[in-house]
Amino acid sequence: KGRPDFSGKKIVITAGPTREKIDPVRYITNHSTGKMGYAIAEEAVKTGADVILISGPVSLKAPTGVKPIYVESAEEMYQAVLSEYEEADIVIKTAAVADYRPKVSFDYKVKKQPGEQQIELERTKDILLELGRIKQNQILIGFAAETDHIAEYAQKKLLKKNADMIVANNVKTEGAGFGTDTNIVTLFKRDGTFIELPIMTKHAVAAKILDEASLLLRDETK
Ligand code: PMT
Repeated sequence: KGRPDFSGKKIVITAGPTREKIDPVRYITNHSTGKMGYAIAEEAVKTGADVILISGPVSLKAPTGVKPIYVESAEEMYQAVLSEYEEADIVIKTAAVADYRPKVSFDYKVKKQPGEQQIELERTKDILLELGRIKQNQILIGFAAETDHIAEYAQKKLLKKNADMIVANNVKTEGAGFGTDTNIVTLFKRDGTFIELPIMTKHAVAAKILDEASLLLRDETK
């Protein structure tokens, strides 16, 4: 079976972590390296699609043929994704977006002081939730990074975020999740079915996600 033909289609992929600024020298982030999202972007280019890669700060080079948009914070990622959303046929949200950011971000370096220090956090916007809310014909694919109750949390996310598919990975398992060249994922779909995949390279996982996206797109246009 060959890869899907997405020529004339626009695929928006988010990748990497976000950085939430505390002051000019400090920030809050997570372990995402961008490998999973960049692998999807590289595979997506091979389908003939127009590929927009919205990336947080990572050390990877954008694959040839994609249009990269570089962002730092969850808020910037939100703005970038929203501006590409209307025209998109498929959106794949691989990025590990911060759920919280410092309530105050100082524009000078905060001096250290004796004793304990606290940082008050506030919620960032939930990009996936918003995309689900305003969805028209886009195929919306989210990820779920979990450490326990994977199936239950992934299925909840699928419905709550109005996504068409959730790619769940147990980030505690060896060979899965952050930083590795492989991943172990289960794809949860809206009809209640799921596909449990063995350990695969992130590129092979990417190709599988795109295969499933093409089936979802076909259902949509039926
Ligand atoms: O980059 P790598 O090192 O290759 O690692 C890959 C990965 C572990 C980052 C990737 O496989 C993965 O699981 N990505 C999703 C990480 C994540 O933030 O999961 P979550 O369960 O917290 O979020 C669920 C979904 O909501 C995700 O699609 C996320 O992009 C989205 N989200 C989350 C928070 C937020 N404020 N807005 C969002 O849109």
